[in-house]
Order: sequence, then structure tokens, then C-alpha cells
Amino acid sequence: MNGKFIVFEGSDGSGKSTVLERVKSYLDRKNIDYVLTREPGGTSIGEQIREILLNVDSHKMHDRTEVLLFAAARAQSVEEKVKPNIEAGKLVISDRYVLSSLAYQGYARQVGVDQVKAINDFATDSLKPDYTFFLDVDPITVLNRKKASEDPDRLEKETNLFHERVYEGYKQLMDDEDFIVIDASKTVDEVVNNVIEKLDEILEEK
Ligand code: TYD
Repeated sequence: MNGKFIVFEGSDGSGKSTVLERVKSYLDRKNIDYVLTREPGGTSIGEQIREILLNVDSHKMHDRTEVLLFAAARAQSVEEKVKPNIEAGKLVISDRYVLSSLAYQGYARQVGVDQVKAINDFATDSLKPDYTFFLDVDPITVLNRKKASEDPDRLEKETNLFHERVYEGYKQLMDDEDFIVIDASKTVDEVVNNVIEKLDEILEEK
């Protein structure tokens, strides 16, 4: 197989983490050589940046600082994990990528999608994913699920309005790119099956 770069996106509470755990088990069972990275994080440097970003004590963080720190963690993930593993012919899966910054910072925080895009082109050396899965679930369902989360991080603590804007941002930005939209309002089993079906198609490509 040629190396492939696949990204998973979705709002907080879209079930992305659970789905990715199940995808991992599936790939393990199929003996597929893959590498997983997450954002912010995925590398030792990135995980240190993640701690600053998600710490509830970082409440003084300026919006531009936030954009740059997410982009810095991403730059490290791209250079240390994504590029070398694609070159080695592996399947690289990233839990979130540039689209998260466009929806959360560019759109919901209103920093400006074009500016955030420009910063991320620099950060990623313009590396684009081959495929992006979007776990699509409406904000109301997400916000109800989120209430069940016991220990919210700094971004999860944002208002309902913020999360509604994130979703709106995703929806608008999805007009511009190719996405695999998965209905994430269904049961976990159904969502996982739908993701795996698409993933199999991708893996069958040369
Ligand atoms: P995480 O615990 O990974 O959330 P999730 O499990 O929902 O992916 O925390 C990441 C948080 O950071 C999440 O609220 C989304 C936010 N985020 C941004 O605001 N911009 C970004 O560029 C990225 C990658 C994440």
C-alpha cells in the first residue's frame, strides 16, 4: 500500500475518541501497519503544548496565542510522525487536523478562517490529508452528551453558543473540501461499521 493520511474530525462529544479506539482494534485485527497521532499532541513536544492549551488555568490565553500553539503542535506532528510514516508507506491516522483550527479558532473564535488557514499552511508545509472523516452530529445532541463528561478541559468548558458555532463552521467549511460525512447520531456500532466500510474502500486503493 502507498502511504495514506487520514484525518478524523468532529465536534466535542461526537464520539470520535470511542470510534477511533474501535478503528484501532479493527486495524490491529487486520494486521494493518498504521500510526496514530492526535492533536494537539501526538509527539513529546506536542503533548507538552497540549497541556498548556487544555489546562483550565490557561484562561488568560489570547486567541492568537491559541491559534499559534495549535499550529505549533501540528507542525511537530507533521514533521515527526505524519510525513516520515507516509513516506514509509504506512497508514497515518490523525485525530483532528487543520480543519479543527479553522472551525474552532477561525470560525467559532472569529480569528478569521483565512488567517488561520495561512498560519496552518506554514505549520504543515501545506500537507493535506488524503481523506477526512467528519463525524456529523447536531450540537444539541453533542451538548447533552458533553454534560455527562465529568472533567471538562478548557475548550470543553466553552459556552453552548461556542460549540454551536464550531459545528456551523465545520458545516460551512465542508462545502470547500472532500469529506466523508458519517452520521454520528446513530449508535456507536452503526457509526463504527459505517466508518470501517469506507476505510476498507480506501485501503483497497493502491
Ligand atoms: P481533545 O481532548 O482531544 O478533544 P476531543 O476528544 O473532542 O478531540 O481536546 C482537543 C480540544 O481542542 C477540543 O475541544 C478541540 C480543540 N481544538 C481546537 O480548538 N483547535 C484545534 O486545532 C484542535 C486540534 C483542537
